[in-house]
Amino acid sequence: MPRVSRRGRATRAAKAPPPPTGTREAPVQFAHESEVEFARILDFYGITWIYEPRSFPLRWDGERIVEAFTPDFFLPDLNLYVELTTMRQRLATEKNRKMRLVRELYPEIQIRLLNKKDYLRLLAKYGYGPPEAAKLPDIERVLITASQIERRVGELGAQISRDYTGEAPMLVGVLKGVLCFMADLLRHISLPVSIDFLAISSYEGDSSGPLSILKDLDLNIEQRHVLLVEDIVDTGMTLNRVLEYLWSQQPASLKVCCLLDKRARRLVDVPLDYIGFEVPDEFVVGYGLDYQQRYRNLPFVAILKEELLV
Ligand code: IMP
Repeated sequence: MPRVSRRGRATRAAKAPPPPTGTREAPVQFAHESEVEFARILDFYGITWIYEPRSFPLRWDGERIVEAFTPDFFLPDLNLYVELTTMRQRLATEKNRKMRLVRELYPEIQIRLLNKKDYLRLLAKYGYGPPEAAKLPDIERVLITASQIERRVGELGAQISRDYTGEAPMLVGVLKGVLCFMADLLRHISLPVSIDFLAISSYEGDSSGPLSILKDLDLNIEQRHVLLVEDIVDTGMTLNRVLEYLWSQQPASLKVCCLLDKRARRLVDVPLDYIGFEVPDEFVVGYGLDYQQRYRNLPFVAILKEELLV
């Protein structure tokens, strides 16, 4: 069988089809249980995947392909091909040989050979939370990953810095859900900001009475440019009443920055000047948001299982 020269290989590599894009098609017949588990974890994190996306020719006999390699997965979001492997040495050696060839012939692609420990570590590195998160029993799936939050909060901070150029705005947060968002946003604002917090009791059906304040502002906001920072705006009732309260103290200006906008549930039309993400009508937890005081410490925003809420 003739050996293929580097030049020949390079030419063939140039003819290879472009990487696949788009969403996966269901149902998929997986060859191994490890693939089912990997796909489940990807689904949990909302990462798009394509199973056995394409074959890479590795050896030719003239024009005929005599050996090819088909990676198990392609992850378009990470632009990464993944081949899963178990710890069995014989299989690993063979796969390593093929991976070496693929890398040589197709240097433009990213491909990784991963065992379970590796892929949990890899996903965590890309901001898809600590691996243990995939085992949280009350969580349906991750809605917004840690890296998506990080990117968006950076954008919001930059925009706020531009909009308030030359000012020293005061950021006011409503405890406790705003904790993570406030701490991160603050560090992306390149202005001399000050911060303060309000704690209020949650309304129970009655939204007409005065706002019940558990912890008032420490600072005077009169004639200050105030930016109210909120974790999530749902019906809008809380925000509406907090805004009324803040306006009564005569700030120079008052704007709102919220991380999550659950617009579908809005009952009161409240003005939102900066919005992190629009979210569907689901109960979400993580990144400061709680369900019965739990899950505030998750580094991502996740949807809670519906059966817990009925
Ligand atoms: P609103 O008055 O209905 O807009 O509710 C706003 C407050 O309800 C937020 O500041 C949160 O404390 C809480 N909240 C609303 N939706 C969620 C959610 O999906 N997860 C956690 N808390 C929520």
